[in-house]
Amino acid sequence: MNKVLYLIVCGAAPAPYADRLVKLAREQSWDVWVVGTPASRDFADFKALQEASGHPVRDSYKRPGEADVGMPGADAVVVAPATMNTIGKWANGICDTLATGILGESFAFNVPLVVLPFVSDAQAANPAYVRNVQFLQDCGVLFPVGIGRPGRVRDFPWEAALKALG
Ligand SMILES: Cc1cc2nc3c(=O)[nH]c(=O)nc-3n(C[C@H](O)[C@H](O)[C@H](O)COP(=O)(O)O)c2cc1C
Repeated sequence: MNKVLYLIVCGAAPAPYADRLVKLAREQSWDVWVVGTPASRDFADFKALQEASGHPVRDSYKRPGEADVGMPGADAVVVAPATMNTIGKWANGICDTLATGILGESFAFNVPLVVLPFVSDAQAANPAYVRNVQFLQDCGVLFPVGIGRPGRVRDFPWEAALKALG
């Protein structure tokens, strides 16, 4: 059975290209389940992500009483691109969307948690952001490409997430 990777996609400029990570991960035999934040809808191509992953892409909680979509348990969680907003919510236990709901429970999964941020220099200089990243790092969350903007959108280092998973 392939290991299961949850990919959380946030609303930042590299999001339209997130299918690259899905394809790379599938080449390494990961079964990828993509969850987008609500803001990611304006950036990401959910159809391409669904085609690349072979699974529906979810961006909201199911309604009370609605049947489970049946996502298998995760063997790893990657947040890419990660926004300042989602990082802040995760570090502060805010679970107002499916994506942050998953992140809010993620420490109980006992699996690798990897973040590839894409934040502006001004955002990265925000003391609250720096504190939130530090807190997540102290909790064992991996930031393999640093905490700011790892180069240009087109060069977003998707492969670093898989390298961090070993
Ligand atoms: C064109 C555009 C580009 C943006 N780029 C970034 C970015 O690079 N990093 C970031 O943290 N937020 C960026 N934002 C702001 C986020 O989309 C916004 O904070 C949103 O609430 C994030 O929601 P999410 O974390 O749920 O995806 C951008 C917004 C727009 C409209």
